[in-house]
Amino acid sequence: MTSPTPTRVLTGITTTGTPHLGNYVGSIRAAVRASRRPGVRSFYFLADYHALIKCDDPARIQRSTLEIAASWLAAGLDPEQVTFYRQSDIPEIPELTWLLTCVTGKGVLNRAHAYKAMLDRNAATGADPDTDVTAGLFMYPVLMAADILMFNAHQVPVGRDQIQHIEMARDMAASFNHLYGEHLVPPEALIDDNVALLPGLDGRKMSKSYDNTIALFGPREQMRRQIMGIVTDSRAPGEPKATEGSALYQIYRAFAADDEAAAFARAFADGIAWGDAKQQLFERIEREIGPMRARYEHLVTHPEEVEAALQAGARKARAIAAPFMRTLRHAVGLRPLEAPAALAQAAPAPKAALPTFKQYREKDGRFYFKLADAGGQVLLQSKGFDSPRDAGQAVKRLQTEGPAALAALGGQLELPAEQAPPALVQALERLAQEAMV
Ligand code: TRP
Repeated sequence: MTSPTPTRVLTGITTTGTPHLGNYVGSIRAAVRASRRPGVRSFYFLADYHALIKCDDPARIQRSTLEIAASWLAAGLDPEQVTFYRQSDIPEIPELTWLLTCVTGKGVLNRAHAYKAMLDRNAATGADPDTDVTAGLFMYPVLMAADILMFNAHQVPVGRDQIQHIEMARDMAASFNHLYGEHLVPPEALIDDNVALLPGLDGRKMSKSYDNTIALFGPREQMRRQIMGIVTDSRAPGEPKATEGSALYQIYRAFAADDEAAAFARAFADGIAWGDAKQQLFERIEREIGPMRARYEHLVTHPEEVEAALQAGARKARAIAAPFMRTLRHAVGLRPLEAPAALAQAAPAPKAALPTFKQYREKDGRFYFKLADAGGQVLLQSKGFDSPRDAGQAVKRLQTEGPAALAALGGQLELPAEQAPPALVQALERLAQEAMV
């Protein structure tokens, strides 16, 4: 039985701050929801290499990594269902960054918004154009493209400010493929128009750089206080109020269902007092965030649990990244010297037959599977499952997650105690890579 190729969705969040409501609405919540859609394989990661571009405070990077990871987990991300990892645990990403650097025009990077904004700032103050511009800032789009292309992501949920980066990643994939063959999938930005940009306390986009944020998992009282600080106009209680251009209304909108939002808009028209409107907003947000707060507090006080989840995620991610990087290295000519030079140009060699799973029922009434290589050699034997569905799910995990699934399924497999045999690991790596394409 073959299922259609799942859509791969990937997004990253830079580890420089403490998550705020804008991050939750614009990124975390959308990501968690997307990860639950059937037919989707999700990759979420902590972009700590990107953080180094903006932040030279080591303690802050570490703290932010913990807080962001804990936030995503508290918001319901299930690390068993998705691949959740830290960028700097995947050495293949900087490796791919270099390959992409070599197919990216400098002129393309000159046009990146973040870099251009710095040049404009310097021009405005009469400073040298390159003042405070690191090569890291200039290269930001290439590292981001490597994040995405490493896992051949189809869709990348991001804010509007990141669309240009996704377009650059597409261009890099196209340049690479043009030179070296069809290896990389051009990604698409996925923008949720309802909630893509959340206004902050002062009505501008909620952003650390404007110092106008509402913390996602601060103490309850702090959230209330911050919401009471949202800027409004000076209309008195009883005077009708406009929802248009109201940060308070827009934030409410991001949390409310259509009918709730309509009721809130009516209350505006009816002249609700700003203090009451803020209290309603607080209660509405708290209804969604409140239940997650305890989990968050547990995780930030038990960093070893978060670390273990990230390490497991890195194993899963590298089961894909390592073999794919080997293919890409070969494609560009970083090869063992005895490999034939003409291989890449020659017609692709017929693929060796893949190892296959067989599912069957034994006389004991239980359901089993085994994995055999093309020659019929058994590489893996399962123990008995109660239902064919359970056996099928275990097979699916091995097919998509590769060798990383062995540890998770350990008890249900006949495996040598010390270590999985190399032939088995290789076979699972190949299957996982095949499942990606
Ligand atoms: N640049 C993104 C941001 O600032 C973070 C990021 C890094 C990212 N790598 C990525 C997002 C890859 C999506 C995909 O929000």
